[in-house]
Amino acid sequence: MDTKETRHNFFTRLAHMGLALATITQLVTSLIFVAPSPGKSGNIWYEIHEYGGLTAFGFVLLFWLALTARRLGTAPGLLFPWFSGPSLRAVWSDTKAHLAAVTRFRLPPFEEHGALASAVHGLGLLLVTAMVATGTIYYFINTGNSDAGGLVGVLMFVHKTLANVVWAYLIGHAGLAVIHHFTDNLRLTEMWSLKP
Ligand code: HEM
Ligand code: HEM
Repeated sequence: MDTKETRHNFFTRLAHMGLALATITQLVTSLIFVAPSPGKSGNIWYEIHEYGGLTAFGFVLLFWLALTARRLGTAPGLLFPWFSGPSLRAVWSDTKAHLAAVTRFRLPPFEEHGALASAVHGLGLLLVTAMVATGTIYYFINTGNSDAGGLVGVLMFVHKTLANVVWAYLIGHAGLAVIHHFTDNLRLTEMWSLKP
């Protein structure tokens, strides 16, 4: 059993686990749901997508609260380096190191507090925040037709476009986490554990 202390506090791990499971539910249900159209109601998978989405909204909120209130965990400047020159330079030099490793067909080693990985994690959180925001606003203002124009149309356009990026993020992020778990010094229990 892994007895090593994790670098992430309980609320971060709880929010991450709930959000990851809810996001997977959202992506899977999106493949099989039938959305309502004028005169026709949607199927059960559509309802699961709606309620799963509202649950994801709750976990996104918890993630942001945990990020703001916590003392243990990745520094906010590492997750969101976009407004600081030195942080941006760190992301750039880490990107070059990753590219150099990849062009030699090597998997870049896992680094605690790596600048590039942390910046991508921050973008992942912003991405799912945009998904739950567009989905939830749509839920409250829609009139049963996702093809309606106006604000409903804009929300669904953003939601459906970003959905493709969520697939890519999930496959890339989860895939790398699993590979590093088996080949390197990252334990999945860093995040997938509910130990207090
Ligand atoms: C789309 C769903 C997911 C999102 C939005 C997401 C988001 C994040 C974020 C924002 C972090 C950084 C947290 C921090 O440093 O405070 C993180 C870390 C992590 N995630 Fe995910 N994640 C998702 C799914 C997954 C899945 C499915 C796995 C496992 C297979 C996973 C494994 C990990 C691990 C192991 C870490 C810790 C990395 C470290 O300690 O440096 N994530 N994730
Ligand atoms: C992490 C959160 C979410 C993810 C990953 C997600 C994912 C998706 C995906 C992949 C699609 C299909 C896109 C397409 O057809 O091209 C979709 C459509 C949709 N989602 Fe979400 N979703 C999320 C949250 C929500 C929430 C919170 C709601 C509302 C409560 C919602 C409501 C909808 C609706 C109404 C559609 C369009 C149905 C149609 O085709 O007419 N989603 N979502």
